[in-house]
Amino acid sequence: MPIDVVGLFRRRLGENYELYAQYVNPTWARVTRLIGYDKIYARAEGCHLYDADGRRYLDCVSGFCVSGIGHNHPAVRQALRRLLEEALPNLVQLDCPLFAGLLAEALVKRVPWLDMVFFANSGSEAIEAALKFARAATGRPRILYAEGAYHGVTYGALSVTGHRMWREGFGPLLTEMDAVPFNDADALGQELERGRVAGVLLEPIQVGAGIVMPADGYLARVQELCRKHGALLMFDEIHTGVGRTGSFLAAERYGVEPDVVCLSKGLSGALVPVSAVITRRDVIRGVYSRLDRSVVHATTFGGNNLAMVAGLATLQALDDEDLLKRCREMGDYLIRSLRPLLEKHELVKDVRGAGLLVGVEFGEPKSLFLRNAWSMMHRINPGLFAQAFTIPLLEKHAVLTQVAGHNEDVLKVAPAFVVAREDIDYFVRALDDVLLVAHSFPGPFWEVGTRLAKNALI
Ligand SMILES: Cc1ncc(COP(=O)(O)O)c(C=O)c1O
Repeated sequence: MPIDVVGLFRRRLGENYELYAQYVNPTWARVTRLIGYDKIYARAEGCHLYDADGRRYLDCVSGFCVSGIGHNHPAVRQALRRLLEEALPNLVQLDCPLFAGLLAEALVKRVPWLDMVFFANSGSEAIEAALKFARAATGRPRILYAEGAYHGVTYGALSVTGHRMWREGFGPLLTEMDAVPFNDADALGQELERGRVAGVLLEPIQVGAGIVMPADGYLARVQELCRKHGALLMFDEIHTGVGRTGSFLAAERYGVEPDVVCLSKGLSGALVPVSAVITRRDVIRGVYSRLDRSVVHATTFGGNNLAMVAGLATLQALDDEDLLKRCREMGDYLIRSLRPLLEKHELVKDVRGAGLLVGVEFGEPKSLFLRNAWSMMHRINPGLFAQAFTIPLLEKHAVLTQVAGHNEDVLKVAPAFVVAREDIDYFVRALDDVLLVAHSFPGPFWEVGTRLAKNALI
């Protein structure tokens, strides 16, 4: 008897948080309860989630930007179903799998200045590969990365993740990894002058640091400096890639052509883990440099049929539905619709982003009562304020959002590209309402903050 997975899901639905607390991660289960995120989601479609009672939620998190084309895209599901109907060879290992070649071909078509692709299973693994490739291809040890960057939590990736919180308790990390300030090309130039730099790794837009946009001309200047010093320019487009900013890569927006591009999240329609490192032929040759080094960097499941087919179907869905254009249009509409909140609410400091990767930054208010409340909350924990916004957005308005990163006053808004104007209108009205409530102190908004603070949550 095959396992009845759907029956199992329906029968045990509701036990999610107890099971997770008991067997997976009790601290996370506790956090979800404290902030009221312990919903029992029963269905996901497009940019919406549905709980067990049928309540619909607007998903502005998109699983940390995995579901760019929307949850459960019918074309990707159909492709995966069709694949599984046949007994095709998969993970033979001692062959060259066809679907991996086909997805590599399709990716290189979209990134025409690069030639070849290495496949893995997660963003962190893609970063590990990029770091190793840079050292192997150049014969140099140093990697430069940006302060505030997030590149993942495996040891290599963690060694180039520029936020203390992620590192605490895990040292020592890799050596010869040096941080430079983001948006400061001169500082980068000075580090490059010191020599022995294999590569410079950057997120073109720093997502976890609070949707920090690159300054005009910064990335082009970084490219110039990398070329001058013979260092590889490596872009972590794990968050920004596959259309999230309205072009296939964010690099295109800024007119730069990095030597290495890491992709993951949005590449497989939120259905199968996958990641890819797209790079130049000479970099790949530098790694797999002799017959006895032909698999010197590898991963067992990289290039598996499910991931490759999900990737191919996702790329086709982007084209068939003109989703990059839609992402640009909806992103512009979202930013246009949010801008009036800047005038209306003193707590809103900035609205910024690209495509459907948008940040709403809160700032210290001018009026005395609010300013005192703001300071108090920030003294307890700098990340508390934005977190307090996400709670009524979910509870009262059924909108799922997240804070952009740790200790940031930035709310991240990143729905799937299939989001409709009505969804955006709804979101903006919801945020406007929460902002109105937040502007009266004392009031329910600040009570949420106090509750979070009491639980020393963040
Ligand atoms: C920019 C960036 N790089 C790397 C990663 C790590 O990816 P993963 O969690 O799949 O290892 C993430 C994940 O959030 C990311 O946003």
